[in-house]
Amino acid sequence: MLIEAHGGKLVNRVLEGEEREELLEKAAKMPQLKLSLRDLTEAENIAIGLYSPLEGFMTEDDYTKVVEDMYLSNGLPWTIPVVLGVSQAKAESLEVDQDVALTDSEGTVYAILHLADKYEYDQEQEAQLVYKTTETEHPGVVKVYERGEVLLGGKISLLRRIEHKLFNEYRLDPKDVRELIKEKGWNRVVGFQTRNPIHRAHEYIQKCALEICDGLLLTPLVGETKGTDVPVEYRVESYEVVMNKIYPQNRTGLAVFPAAMRYAGPREAVFHALCRKNYGCTHFIVGRDHAGVGDYYGTYEAQEMFDNFKPEEIGIEPLRFDHAFYCKECESMATAKTCPHGQEDHIFLSGTKVRGLLRDGQRPPKQMTRPEVADVLIKGMAK
Ligand code: ADX
Repeated sequence: MLIEAHGGKLVNRVLEGEEREELLEKAAKMPQLKLSLRDLTEAENIAIGLYSPLEGFMTEDDYTKVVEDMYLSNGLPWTIPVVLGVSQAKAESLEVDQDVALTDSEGTVYAILHLADKYEYDQEQEAQLVYKTTETEHPGVVKVYERGEVLLGGKISLLRRIEHKLFNEYRLDPKDVRELIKEKGWNRVVGFQTRNPIHRAHEYIQKCALEICDGLLLTPLVGETKGTDVPVEYRVESYEVVMNKIYPQNRTGLAVFPAAMRYAGPREAVFHALCRKNYGCTHFIVGRDHAGVGDYYGTYEAQEMFDNFKPEEIGIEPLRFDHAFYCKECESMATAKTCPHGQEDHIFLSGTKVRGLLRDGQRPPKQMTRPEVADVLIKGMAK
């Protein structure tokens, strides 16, 4: 039996057949709203059920409750606003209860927004409560400030899928991943979020988790990230080069996670977990500084965030991992929980140091990064 989606039912707002044809025809006469790729992707993520139980962009009651209390108005936990911001002028041109055609920058219609609400909101309050800072240096906060000053809420009907050049074989919708899990016969499935190339600490915590589960679902994030993160094609390639070599095929799946990175640390960890539950995962890895950036969040704050909820409210079980490293005395990967030795025995290089080595065409120690992964990154740096 697969775990239920968050809220009990996997949302499907993807229209097909006649229904789709009819709405496509009507769309030509609807007011048009051009969206960024990031916002269009959000509409698609809603429609394919990745954000179940959300069926659309949040209306004011949900938005306020999520920002202030980390719950939806139906009582389910939800920690990150999923909203559509527009300018005041654009908002004034639209009527509540109207259907609005959502298009890309060229005017191709991708979805319909059944406009149910338009409302003003306090960006600073959202920044403070969701991101714990109002500083514009925070890459997630900047995105809040860049949004339009009015939010449009309402259900989505998806008419067209976004076409991508990259990773099409790994673009599995939650319903596809659920099929995969069924086919493989996994009962306990652990999901892994990442916005980085794979390194040995990732590999260690993934494999520790797999020891107590039946399947490992690797879900590297391929949505928008901040400019200084490693470009997405090299991150995914790093997984490709190790997949066959160090992961058991019958116990591992790879499905790219299309959402944008928020860098909201603790709140994003819960959001990430709920999305993986929608994919059909029963467990979710939360390691050190999950979804963090700079010094905004404590090392284990993302893990502690789960303590604010009853386990049955969240449904998917967080697997908490301490900071992992290679210890020369243990001759293996370890954490402070399992290794009695001092820091002098641990192999550690800062991200800056690693980047410096890669830029010079040198591989970091193999206890940190596998040589074949280092080569992908060196190639990426040279571009
Ligand atoms: S994240 O923004 O997607 O969280 P990253 O790709 O670095 O960044 O991390 C993916 C997952 O691995 C997160 O759960 C993170 O906490 C965990 N993680 C990363 N590095 C380590 C480490 N050295 N020890 C333990 N957990 C780690």
